Amino acid sequence: MRLVFWPWISLFFTFVASTWSLSSDGQALLALSKNLILPSSVSSSWSASDATPCTWNGVSCNKRNRVVSLDLSSSGVSGSLGPEICRLKYLQILSLSGNNISGSIPPELGNCSMLEQLDLSQNFFSGNIPASMGNLKRVSFLSLYSNSLSGTIPEELFKNQFLEQVYLHSNQLSGSIPFSVGEMTSLTDLWLHENMLSGVLPASIGNCTKLEVLYLFDNRLSGGLPETLSKIKGLRIFDATTNSFTGEITFSFENCKLEIFTLSFNNIKGEIPSWLGSCTSLTQLGFVNNSLSGKIQASLGLLSNLTYLLLSQNSLYGPIPPEIGNCHLLEWLELDANQLEGTVPKELAHLRKLSKLFLYENRLIGDFPENIWSIPTLESVLIDSNSFTGKLPSMVAELKFLRNITLSDNFFSGIVPPKLGVNSRLLRINFRNNSFVGGIPPNICSGKGLRVLDLGLNHLNGSIPRGIITDCPRLQKLVLRDNNLSGSIM
Ligand SMILES: *[C@@H]1O[C@H](CO)[C@@H](O)[C@H](O)[C@H]1NC(C)=O
Ligand SMILES: *[C@@H]1O[C@H](CO)[C@@H](O)[C@H](O)[C@H]1NC(C)=O
Ligand SMILES: *[C@@H]1O[C@H](CO)[C@@H](O)[C@H](O)[C@H]1NC(C)=O
Ligand SMILES: *[C@@H]1O[C@H](CO)[C@@H](O)[C@H](O)[C@H]1NC(C)=O
Ligand SMILES: *[C@@H]1O[C@H](CO)[C@@H](O)[C@H](O)[C@H]1NC(C)=O
Ligand SMILES: *[C@@H]1O[C@H](CO)[C@@H](O)[C@H](O)[C@H]1NC(C)=O
Ligand SMILES: *[C@@H]1O[C@H](CO)[C@@H](O)[C@H](O)[C@H]1NC(C)=O
Ligand SMILES: *[C@@H]1O[C@H](CO)[C@@H](O)[C@H](O)[C@H]1NC(C)=O
Ligand SMILES: *[C@@H]1O[C@H](CO)[C@@H](O)[C@H](O)[C@H]1NC(C)=O
Repeated sequence: MRLVFWPWISLFFTFVASTWSLSSDGQALLALSKNLILPSSVSSSWSASDATPCTWNGVSCNKRNRVVSLDLSSSGVSGSLGPEICRLKYLQILSLSGNNISGSIPPELGNCSMLEQLDLSQNFFSGNIPASMGNLKRVSFLSLYSNSLSGTIPEELFKNQFLEQVYLHSNQLSGSIPFSVGEMTSLTDLWLHENMLSGVLPASIGNCTKLEVLYLFDNRLSGGLPETLSKIKGLRIFDATTNSFTGEITFSFENCKLEIFTLSFNNIKGEIPSWLGSCTSLTQLGFVNNSLSGKIQASLGLLSNLTYLLLSQNSLYGPIPPEIGNCHLLEWLELDANQLEGTVPKELAHLRKLSKLFLYENRLIGDFPENIWSIPTLESVLIDSNSFTGKLPSMVAELKFLRNITLSDNFFSGIVPPKLGVNSRLLRINFRNNSFVGGIPPNICSGKGLRVLDLGLNHLNGSIPRGIITDCPRLQKLVLRDNNLSGSIM
């Protein structure tokens, strides 16, 4: 009897003694791990019989064995974050990013007064951002992105002059951007994109004079963009795509540092700001689908690092400035759906990296410069619905990367290059309503990828190549009507 009894008693005392000897920080972590489900690879080292948690996986301590950092990022953690976290009185870094943690952010998190870096990104946190997080006055890095957080951004959260990087994007946050945004005077990065934020961009944003990156895209923001943006002299990236911003661009940058400036899919009026010509660091300029009017300024030709120039779907008129040909790094030139006039400058052939050239639905006239077809990188050339004349040179058939070519509703004449389709995996060919003569290129389907082939309303003759029937497995649309073709279809 005794032999059986005593080992149990001694086991009991060992357990009590060891729990007693574990530091309070260790006990706080064990309490935390009741809700936070750690994979065995982590929890195996979280032993209640240790004196301190300083050797536990994910835990770092200061010299006095107090926990200063808990980093369990991308560790296969699930469960939820309990209020015990702030029993770690000296915690400076909390990183739980890239796990499967769900539930809400505990309001008690605001009690972690020493916290400097907080990263809860890429989890399944839901519910509101607690207003108490505004008490984290030492936090300089705050990352809550890619969760399911909803509700408004608490005004208190931004009342913090130490915040440098704030990542709240890819949640379901609604309401407006707090006016207190201007109190983050150390802010360099503010990422608010992919939420449901509405209302205006507060003029107080101009107080964030150290801001370099401002992402607002895919929200429901409206009103004018504040003139105070001019005060943010070091702004490098400003992306407000897909919102409902209105009015003219009233802000400007003198010693402009912009690299990415895109306001596509808004309702911005007025002209393309002339100061943009001095933003020589610009690589991406996007104003697609706004209400811009006026001409395209020749000064855009000074932007020698530009790779994307996207001005489609506006009311721009006048000619395409030949100076655009100086933007040697340009890859995407999208000017479609405007009221551009005149001829296409032959200088565009200097754009030796161009892959997308969208000029469709304008009022362009004259021979389309043949040398443009010598740009080896061309992938999509969409120039339909203009009044272009001229011929399609045989070098079109040499373009290895060509996928989409639409020339419809123009006055192109001559033959269709007989080798078209041999060297490239074409997806879409639309030559409808031109004056092409001669036969249909026999190997037009060689790439096997063709989905759309529309050659209707031309003067093509001869028979339909057998390849179109046997070699075009993806073909969804075939239009050959209103030509002078003969022979049988099979
Ligand atoms: C996290 O969740 C995903 C799907 O929601 C699941 O496939 C994965 O196994 C989970 N990982 C862990 C560690 O629970
Ligand atoms: C911790 O936070 C909660 C909720 O924000 C608050 O009510 C409580 O007073 C705080 N406790 C301490 C010890 O600071
Ligand atoms: C921030 O900017 C606004 C408007 O530009 C101004 O009225 C306000 O005084 C500024 N606030 C702070 C805290 O600097
Ligand atoms: C253009 O880009 C290059 C390479 O990224 C960079 O070194 C250079 O400073 C840029 N030019 C300007 C004017 O920003
Ligand atoms: C802008 O986009 C909207 C919605 O996608 C579309 O209805 C409208 O036609 C576009 N505007 C122009 C000028 O293309
Ligand atoms: C090219 O054509 C394919 C097939 O019609 C289409 O899915 C794709 O979006 C087009 N790409 C461009 C850039 O127009
Ligand atoms: C053919 O193209 C011309 C020039 O763009 C246009 O005016 C005409 O309406 C088009 N005809 C048809 C039938 O689409
Ligand atoms: C079609 O071909 C016939 C015979 O070659 C020719 O007489 C006629 O003018 C052609 N029609 C068109 C529209 O090209
Ligand atoms: C097609 O038309 C051209 C003139 O445009 C003519 O030279 C040629 O013989 C015609 N080919 C056939 C097969 O009718």
